Amino acid sequence: MTRENVILKVDNLTKQFGGVIAVNEVSFDVKKGEIFAVIGPNGAGKTTLFNMITGVLPSTSGQVVFENHKLTGKKPYQIAKIGVTRTFQNLEVFSNMTVIENVMTGAHLTMKTNLFTAGLRLPMVVKEERKTMEKAMECLERVGIAHLAYKMSPTLPYGSQRLLEIARAAASNPKLILLDEPMAGLNSEESRQLIEVILKMREDGLTFVFVEHDMETVMSMSDRIVVMDNGVKIGEGTPEEVYQNPKIVAAYLGDEEEDTVYA
Ligand SMILES: Nc1ncnc2c1ncn2[C@@H]1O[C@H](COP(=O)(O)OP(=O)(O)OP(=O)(O)O)[C@@H](O)[C@H]1O
Ligand SMILES: [Mg+2]
Repeated sequence: MTRENVILKVDNLTKQFGGVIAVNEVSFDVKKGEIFAVIGPNGAGKTTLFNMITGVLPSTSGQVVFENHKLTGKKPYQIAKIGVTRTFQNLEVFSNMTVIENVMTGAHLTMKTNLFTAGLRLPMVVKEERKTMEKAMECLERVGIAHLAYKMSPTLPYGSQRLLEIARAAASNPKLILLDEPMAGLNSEESRQLIEVILKMREDGLTFVFVEHDMETVMSMSDRIVVMDNGVKIGEGTPEEVYQNPKIVAAYLGDEEEDTVYA
């Protein structure tokens, strides 16, 4: 792997909650344009890993570098400005807003004007607000729900709210989007639509790191996979390599022989 290709470098990242080491010296590199999966059983530390990368939680030790920026120690909005955004495991859509307003909150992360200048309604602010709205609409078009722009967000079906979250993440012009269980709760048609959206955004130059329990999605979508168990990285490779690694199959994909012994 050439160094220039690496967009995200996770280096010995560790998170300790009291006596629990949720993430234990995890390292991996993600290349530009990859769809990179993080898998592992419940409680493996996947969300905690995402929380550290995106600045939601401080890490206990280790570091994260995105392009030539050290993300460690930065706040989520600073990390978003650098080009890294995310969606959450539990739907986090602002319920008192229309769909487009929700997406505009994503775009606001990278706007030049602040609340003070916005309050003055200067021509620059009005112009920027119009640009933000255009950008938000463009993101809704990208995920295929522009026709729902003026609906109140909670009235959307669950799958469309997932797409809305991705549109909001895309509105801050990221280079890397982290998706925490994007397919959870979606029916097969909604999952298919979401996969198409992700693949198309990758074609446009975006990089994705995603956590997912649905193995069919993981195996079909990912370029590479990191496997975690109990806070530790237990393996890494292409879907084929992961599937053929007996240690990984035993720890995560289920050891069928063992099952029959205890059945
Ligand atoms: N804020 C917290 N305080 C204390 N312990 C935590 C906290 N967040 C996570 N943990 C613990 O850290 C470990 C990893 O949790 P995490 O949510 O990262 O797992 P996960 O791999 O995302 O699991 P799931 O697949 O269920 O979403 C678990 O033991 C969990 O109980
Ligand atoms: Mg999780």
